[in-house]
Amino acid sequence: MWSIIVHGGAGAIPGPLEAQHRAGCARAVEVGAALLARGASALDAAQAAVRVLEDDPTFNAGVGATLDARGLPLTDAAVMRGEDLAYGAVGQVLGVRNPIDLARAVLEDGRHCLLVGPNAVEFARDAGVALCDPARHLTEATIRAYTARREEEARSGRRAATADWDPQEGLGVDRGNTVGAVARDAAGGLAAATSTGGLLMRYPGRVGDSPVAGAGTYADAELGALSATGHGETMLRTVFALRALQAAQAADPTEALLAALDDARARVGGKGGAILVLPDGRLAHARNTRGMGVAGQREGEALFTAF
Ligand code: GLY
Repeated sequence: MWSIIVHGGAGAIPGPLEAQHRAGCARAVEVGAALLARGASALDAAQAAVRVLEDDPTFNAGVGATLDARGLPLTDAAVMRGEDLAYGAVGQVLGVRNPIDLARAVLEDGRHCLLVGPNAVEFARDAGVALCDPARHLTEATIRAYTARREEEARSGRRAATADWDPQEGLGVDRGNTVGAVARDAAGGLAAATSTGGLLMRYPGRVGDSPVAGAGTYADAELGALSATGHGETMLRTVFALRALQAAQAADPTEALLAALDDARARVGGKGGAILVLPDGRLAHARNTRGMGVAGQREGEALFTAF
């Protein structure tokens, strides 16, 4: 039995955007589910679903990625396969059309797990992964959010990512933070895929949890697969993905996710959300932010959405 679930990022997403977030996630699940129904691997399905979310300007990844302090849409992405713990990730890449495809190319190449910066883009060129003008990833909304944050910083003298910065604020005013998909294929294979534009106004060079195995992304045939979203530093410091998957083994998976999110918030301060699939195909999602677009489907059942 196959199953798939995606998220469009956790954050302070205004209510009027809920329908857009649900619809975008549903479109991603439809693409992933169609592949799984034809016998595709969980890895192919999760990657394809994330590609849909990267191409949708609603979400903070690919087109619509938030801008760093220099106003650049640098992105991070990762894919992981549960059977053999194969893992490919990229950080701080600019001008790669679909960062999730580059993460997959790193996984398939197999020599390394995580490539960053201009050298990762060079790897994309060599591997035949499509590049693009970085302007392709800019949207009016991300430019507006960046400009507003700059003006607010200039007015208040308060810089983002300092000790007094509220991580919730940093998750974006009109969009979630990060997109992700996890899937189980008909043969029992598991995979996770995550892609993000990171936090608005992040320090140039900052890499969050998304491309770090065990923090923002993880897949292990014995535990399940998980993609996280939210304040990356909180997920990194709590090794969120691995610990949440471990906690989900012995408890109700939704409650385990929520408890892991609340524990991370209590210990480090940031909020977020996550989706997971267990080895038996059960799906779960949870958030402790205002919203998070979610869609999922299990073989033989109707597609569902949540927010
Ligand atoms: N969760 C994505 C990030 O903080 O970069």
